[in-house]
Amino acid sequence: MGENFLFSEFGQKFRNQTGIGQLMEDLGNLKPGTSMLGGGSPALIPEVEEVWRMILSKFAESGSWDSILGKYETPTGKEETLEILASLLSSETGTAISKNQIAITNGSQNAFYLLLNFYSGNFLDGSFRKIFLPVLPEYIGYLDQPIHPDSFHGILGKVNVTGEDTFRYEMDTSSWKDLNENIGCVVLSRPTNPTGRVARKEELEQILSFAKERKIPFLLDNAYGFPFPGIIYSDEKLFHSEGMIQGFSFSKIGLPGVRTGFVLADPKIIETLNKANAVLNLAGGNLGQYIALEFVRSGEWLRLSRDIVKPFYSKKRELAISLIRSEWKGKLKYSIHESEGAFFLWVKFSGLSKKISEIYPLLKENGVIIVPGNYFYPGSTEDKDPGEDSVRISFAREDQEIQEGIRKIGKILSNYTE
Ligand SMILES: Cc1ncc(COP(=O)(O)O)c(C=O)c1O
Repeated sequence: MGENFLFSEFGQKFRNQTGIGQLMEDLGNLKPGTSMLGGGSPALIPEVEEVWRMILSKFAESGSWDSILGKYETPTGKEETLEILASLLSSETGTAISKNQIAITNGSQNAFYLLLNFYSGNFLDGSFRKIFLPVLPEYIGYLDQPIHPDSFHGILGKVNVTGEDTFRYEMDTSSWKDLNENIGCVVLSRPTNPTGRVARKEELEQILSFAKERKIPFLLDNAYGFPFPGIIYSDEKLFHSEGMIQGFSFSKIGLPGVRTGFVLADPKIIETLNKANAVLNLAGGNLGQYIALEFVRSGEWLRLSRDIVKPFYSKKRELAISLIRSEWKGKLKYSIHESEGAFFLWVKFSGLSKKISEIYPLLKENGVIIVPGNYFYPGSTEDKDPGEDSVRISFAREDQEIQEGIRKIGKILSNYTE
């Protein structure tokens, strides 16, 4: 019966979407023994889990559970958490940041949904503005977020061959000054999901000056970056300047289930985000705000990021790269994007006789999940099949699972080499 109810345009948008929703479904329904190299979940690291256990038992001892479970926080967020996050960002960026520049959200996905819709779509001046993605490929999770269709304008990264089997996408600024699209904001993830690219400071400055010229915000997504989990292998730093809106997440350090993130922006933007938070959620979840306070106050954020999490992924990354080289050399023509951050490898193939999206069901059937590259190109107009030669491989898994998965990928793809 419910099948016949008419969905509004808004409802249809979610009903028809095939991006992240379908992928999250796939990740949840797997045959036993599947090598799960597809998801965005962080690894379960014992030293990290120990810290969560310690913080939670402290709540039990101090009686904080009553407040955590039994009352709504204000939509602005827990005062002490806002203060400690502001002071952390002040010291990490070297810029004075106050608590009215911070909003706490139920995950950074939630924050980006609001922000992308604040700065794209129909504007009161009658214009329709798009979201500018300066280096494609870019995060799949943005894809279906704008309420209006056709809300992205993306420019493909320019391939720069950096080694025998490595490359890096460089930001191609050549068309920026002639860009006719009406743009409402610029968005970049740093490290970039899916490529592991970490935009250099000069690149951030270039984007910022483009954004300032057009009087639009620059949204920078630090889900894998600074201040935590700090999964950045190059020596870049956290950077903040007026005109930037930055998203942060507690997920990739090890709390994806708690659904907590925060945003740094000018106070007026924060005020609007808090009002939207009240409409959508009444208030942010308490558990994440209490854990965040303890996590930052104790200094564990730095110890875990610097001494545990980054070295952990750094080892996995080396393992995954060396396995690709030993398993695929001579069988497949591939090139790996320079791995500068996060816990993915982006691999581009040449000479495949089928598209990656066509091979994906076979990979799944044969017990290995990756994310096909075609998902990561919102708003691309330059290439009609972008990403059909690429895959994103997560290395946030057990060593043996990574090894088996890479072997299976090699075996299946080599059936489709020309
Ligand atoms: C680049 C990027 N941004 C944002 C998110 C959203 O993270 P969360 O909502 O868990 O904070 C993710 C999750 O995978 C991501 O990869």
